Amino acid sequence: MTQFDDLLKEDQNYIWHPFTPFTDKANVLPVNKAEGSYLYLENGRKVLDIIASWWVNLHGHAHPEIAQAIYKQAQNLEQVIFAGFTHEPAIRLSKILVENLVQDTAFGKVFFSDNGSTAVEVAIKMALQYFFNKNEFNKLKIIAFEGAYHGDTFGAMSVGGRTPFNAAFNPLLFEVKFISIPTKDNLHRLLQTFETLTSDPSCAAFIFEPLVQGANGMNTYAAEHLDLLIEIAQKKEIICIADEVMTGFGRTGKLLASHYLKNMPDIICLSKGITGGFLPLGATVCKEKIAEAFYADALHKTFFHGHSYTANPLACAAACKSFEILERSTTQKQIEAIQEAHFSFIEKLQKNPLSEKYIKEIRHIGTILAIEINTKEYYSYFNEHRKLIYDFFLDKNILMRPLGNVLYLLPPYSTTVADLNYVYQQIEAFLTFLSKAE
Ligand SMILES: Cc1ncc(COP(=O)(O)O)c(C=O)c1O
Repeated sequence: MTQFDDLLKEDQNYIWHPFTPFTDKANVLPVNKAEGSYLYLENGRKVLDIIASWWVNLHGHAHPEIAQAIYKQAQNLEQVIFAGFTHEPAIRLSKILVENLVQDTAFGKVFFSDNGSTAVEVAIKMALQYFFNKNEFNKLKIIAFEGAYHGDTFGAMSVGGRTPFNAAFNPLLFEVKFISIPTKDNLHRLLQTFETLTSDPSCAAFIFEPLVQGANGMNTYAAEHLDLLIEIAQKKEIICIADEVMTGFGRTGKLLASHYLKNMPDIICLSKGITGGFLPLGATVCKEKIAEAFYADALHKTFFHGHSYTANPLACAAACKSFEILERSTTQKQIEAIQEAHFSFIEKLQKNPLSEKYIKEIRHIGTILAIEINTKEYYSYFNEHRKLIYDFFLDKNILMRPLGNVLYLLPPYSTTVADLNYVYQQIEAFLTFLSKAE
């Protein structure tokens, strides 16, 4: 038995992997190391990580400067309770998030947690308690988009679309008013529905993934349309929550997807890319007016939420360094190069005679490129093409974990145009494969 096989066997004996069915055959690959945009497997194979390991990696794996920042921090302060104590990396990071990332003077406070789901939980609880603290006890209803994905904890699942992901828990999820994603065709009707929903005095918050619904097949929609919805909501003092867990930190071509909007949301949820993909960290950034409702010496207005590792110093140090790298002109140029490469490929793909038959839609924003494959079934995570696409690309040493019949690129910013060209080439080869399979 090789080391590779030993690891697989032990893995199967002891580990329960996320979003992975149990099968008799091991269906995971042991990774030994990673560098830049590549993963190196235990058997020596080199795999291009074109989805930034579930959208977390920004500057490439094992970035030496971030590794060094964590090492330096670990020698000084690895962790400390964050109630009653504070530390320099958290203070530095909060200032960066408010001033350099969000860049809106109405924003004032950062609340730290552990991941994207908890950043969302915090946002929901913050919005609801904001009204509670102002003695508006009936403000409890939330509006969200159909097909939304905000995470796997109960609050985050509740504001997410009712999909097979959460079917087992449906009866336990709190009631949410779901609206369609805006399109040119439904806009007029949608705005009317939204006016009605937001006129309900019990309506408290509106939560959305700005401009692109990640898990829902990288489903994009227009900033102007979202702006109209936010404007209606904010006129009625409804708290607008932007879940930027996936879109934050340059993914859409701007630091935040919210920067494409005229109306900034009131609360922004961050995670994933925040530490450059090194350590788990969530941050919920809110406008000062939200925090003000919690100002009181007495405990009765306090936000009773906190995780043991809140604002972990190592994660904060990694996040500060990652942001420093993100702001560099070299990184900004890399982001632009990825966008331009996507543009050129889209033009090429549109000319490919197989596209008309096999591609339903091409969606693109910033560094994200998604291609929906035409299948008999509608889009669904469970679409039969999922495994076909995953296996096809893995066979070509590309980690492309499709969302059902949607294959997509969401690369680390270290990914070169040559790497991208290789993936584009394989996408065209996949179309040829589909045509031959008929
Ligand atoms: C928009 C959005 N929100 C929240 C989450 C949940 O983040 P986490 O998996 O870190 O809990 C995700 C994860 O994919 C996401 O895409």
